[in-house]
Amino acid sequence: LRASFAVRAEKQNQRLENRFQPQASAFKVAILGAAGGIGQPLALLVKMSPLVSALHLYDIANVKGVAADLSHCNTPSQVLDFTGQSELGNSLKGVDVVVIPAGVPRKPGMTRDDLFNINANIVKTLIEAVADNCPDAFIHIISNPVNSTVPIAAEILKQKGVYNPKKLFGVTTLDVVRANTFVAQKKNLKLIDVDVPVVGGHAGITILPLLSKTRPSVSFTDQEIDELTVRIQNAGTEVVEAKAGAGSATLSMAYAAARFVESSLRALDGDADVYECSFIQSELTDLPFFASRVKIGKEGVEAVISSDLQGLTEYETKALEALKPELKASIEKGVTFAQKKE
Ligand code: NAD
Ligand code: LMR
Repeated sequence: LRASFAVRAEKQNQRLENRFQPQASAFKVAILGAAGGIGQPLALLVKMSPLVSALHLYDIANVKGVAADLSHCNTPSQVLDFTGQSELGNSLKGVDVVVIPAGVPRKPGMTRDDLFNINANIVKTLIEAVADNCPDAFIHIISNPVNSTVPIAAEILKQKGVYNPKKLFGVTTLDVVRANTFVAQKKNLKLIDVDVPVVGGHAGITILPLLSKTRPSVSFTDQEIDELTVRIQNAGTEVVEAKAGAGSATLSMAYAAARFVESSLRALDGDADVYECSFIQSELTDLPFFASRVKIGKEGVEAVISSDLQGLTEYETKALEALKPELKASIEKGVTFAQKKE
């Protein structure tokens, strides 16, 4: 029995080692806010990617221990830690993808917009450093309120003369992950098959799952559509309330962010078949930023999948019109903040 365990363990080791063999392409990823509730599990998941050669972990505190811990995993990427403003620039040099989960999370009773005053300044400072040190990198913004922090980032990059709208992404992957999970549960579908595009923004009614575009094609009753839509829109609050003051989604967010990082790395690596939903500068509607499915390539957003907004149901059409004023106001709030003189 012991021998058979040993053989099995050896095979398992070989499988893991094969999985983590360095590949020809290797990319550098920086996580800003890496010691936080999202940052730590996200760093672990990115450390497992065979496409990553270096993982730069930046935070204002507590990041040394996280990096020491993670660096013992026998996967190819090298882990480096950077603490505080004086090391921020170095954490960004030569980086291909920057992920930003820095900032405060919600407590029960708060909206994402209630985080604006603190997180807007954090994102502004971090994006200034990105502009100065790795202006060509893909930038993934997780910090809330995403509906405002992405427009803030765009304005700061414009002011620095390095804005490339194809490379600035608001991370809305968690909305898709949730929609896929809830739809699969409700309709008894195999999770792996389900894909629901989620458009609009990332807060309350601005989160609009397009259930009529679910793949594989599924039919829903009116009641199912309403229940699923409301659950997907309130899923963040569901977690905030369950955590009862200890923060918001971290593990599912890390999973979603790692998926978006992996998709970006595959795109940078030349994979021609990478599609994700993301909140980006967009001409799909009359709003300057909008989340939708996009095709991602080596240079960032290659195409916006406009067909997702064609042939919407009456429910979706009404919900799309209803979300526009709130999303517009959040975008304008971000732009105004970034444009105000010190
Ligand atoms: P957290 O408090 O656990 O971690 C935040 C980290 O940011 C901390 O380690 C903190 O030290 C760090 N930080 C603070 N100021 C910083 C600065 N100036 N530079 C670098 N790092 C700084 O919070 P969390 O649970 O990880 O959530 C982080 C953010 O992500 C929140 O704003 C939250 O609302 C947002 N979030 C977004 C989504 C989404 O779908 N986009 C999902 C979940 C959470
Ligand atoms: C989420 O959707 O889980 C995040 O935006 C965090 C939050 O505040 O709900």
